[in-house]
Amino acid sequence: MRTVSLTSETDLAGWREAARGLLLAGVEPQGVRFRVGGQGGLFDALPPAHPGESRDPVLSEESGGGDWRSSEAPGAGAAKTLGPGVRRDERMEKVITVPRAFPDLAAEVALHRSEDRFDLLYRLLWRVQGERDLLKVVSDRDVADAMERAKNVSRASHKMKAFVRFRQTQDDAGDRWIAWFEPAHRVLEKTAPFFQRRFTTLRWTILTPDGTADWNGEALSFGPPATRDMAPQEDEVEEFWKTYYASTFNPARLKTRTMQGEMPKRYWANLPEASLIPELVARAEVREREMVAAPATPANPRLIRAVAPVVERAAQDAPPPETLEALERAVQGCRRCPLWRDATQGVCGRGPARADLMIVGEQPGDQEDLAGEPFVGPAGQVLNAAMSEAEVDRSHAFVTNAVKHFKHEPRGKRRIHQTPTTSEITACRWWLDAERAIVKPKLIVTLGATAAFGVLGRKVAVTKERGRPIALEDGSTALLTVHPSYLLRIPDKAAAAAERARFVEDLRAARELL
Ligand code: URA
Ligand code: SF4
Repeated sequence: MRTVSLTSETDLAGWREAARGLLLAGVEPQGVRFRVGGQGGLFDALPPAHPGESRDPVLSEESGGGDWRSSEAPGAGAAKTLGPGVRRDERMEKVITVPRAFPDLAAEVALHRSEDRFDLLYRLLWRVQGERDLLKVVSDRDVADAMERAKNVSRASHKMKAFVRFRQTQDDAGDRWIAWFEPAHRVLEKTAPFFQRRFTTLRWTILTPDGTADWNGEALSFGPPATRDMAPQEDEVEEFWKTYYASTFNPARLKTRTMQGEMPKRYWANLPEASLIPELVARAEVREREMVAAPATPANPRLIRAVAPVVERAAQDAPPPETLEALERAVQGCRRCPLWRDATQGVCGRGPARADLMIVGEQPGDQEDLAGEPFVGPAGQVLNAAMSEAEVDRSHAFVTNAVKHFKHEPRGKRRIHQTPTTSEITACRWWLDAERAIVKPKLIVTLGATAAFGVLGRKVAVTKERGRPIALEDGSTALLTVHPSYLLRIPDKAAAAAERARFVEDLRAARELL
């Protein structure tokens, strides 16, 4: 059995280097163990790969450094195949190729806290040489295992983004923000750039048992492991958090179980606001202005600027609201896309909390934005008339939009409607999905392309697919039709009447499906 010593817990480069050598030497996964630390070089007590050869013939023959080559990458075709996965490129250097998904998967798995993570990676590396599609076989034990570990790592990074709490300290250069955090996996280096982007203008340090990340306002650097007592314990920010939540949360609505699911106990110790309700975090952010004005809360704008992004993050991590009332409140704090900035308010769906029919429009228009209700303006009039003609009762339907904030451009005193982008629609699907989960409609009628995209999650040609029921993953059915505003824009009277009749036909078809 060979033992390979890596220089650190996250020494993926060292692993790659060694794995490449071992693979080229034909060392099977059962014959090698990767460990971290230990004395000596890369290989402890490494016998010659083949008798008579130098200590590590293959590594020395390697081109050195560099990444794996993806077998699907352009340029790999120029290499001459020597056997599955092992090639010589034009310079006659041995090159190992891996499936495109492998490097990313390896990068995640390497951060997992399990002891055998590098052994698993080598086993996978070995196997993909012969089984090029192995990573697609999710039922395979090694693949499933690696994917699970990668998922855990990704979740740990996600949690770190949401639950790191900085505490304010002073040093010679001024304010310094310090946080203590214990990530479930070794995600400090992977996640630190997120904080760099979020808190670019502050100087901060994140202390963890694995290492330290430090941003001095200009450069990110990493240092040795830290202990909890190196972090400040209580400060103004802590008080701020407590007051922030005390003043904005209604404890009667506390859902401890949901909360514990979102926020594992391991993080609680560092959260002054551990008793918060995630859905209300969003609400709290909206109240920021009131809060600054309120005498009971510390009106420190700098502090608010510093923590607001963290609140935002926590709100994004909250589970979807389970009632329409909670949803409507939470939408007001949504920052998933930039559309909230210029809108008066988020406009959610209206109708019974359980309805067999859901009608989805594009986004609130000018009047809806002011009224806070969907389809009350001109498009709403068209919709109402067509619905009554088709004998579909609007009061029994849940009427909503794919995007909850009004996207517009000022033109003089008027606000001109703008079509939301796919990324805005995608961001807002989170809310539409939440509405669907609550209302549980049997049939969803989508009005126009934005609504179809919001419901189906893919681009569709409405004119091609209209009127034909489409089965949805959740067991409901979608029926696509045009948007009533489109009817308003057809200049030719006869053509407009014909299109309107087709629209009414589609609504009739919807009624038939119920
Ligand atoms: N257009 C829509 O798509 N939705 C509304 O709520 C109003 C106009
Ligand atoms: Fe959030 Fe949707 Fe408003 Fe964008 S449009 S901010 S995703 S509610």
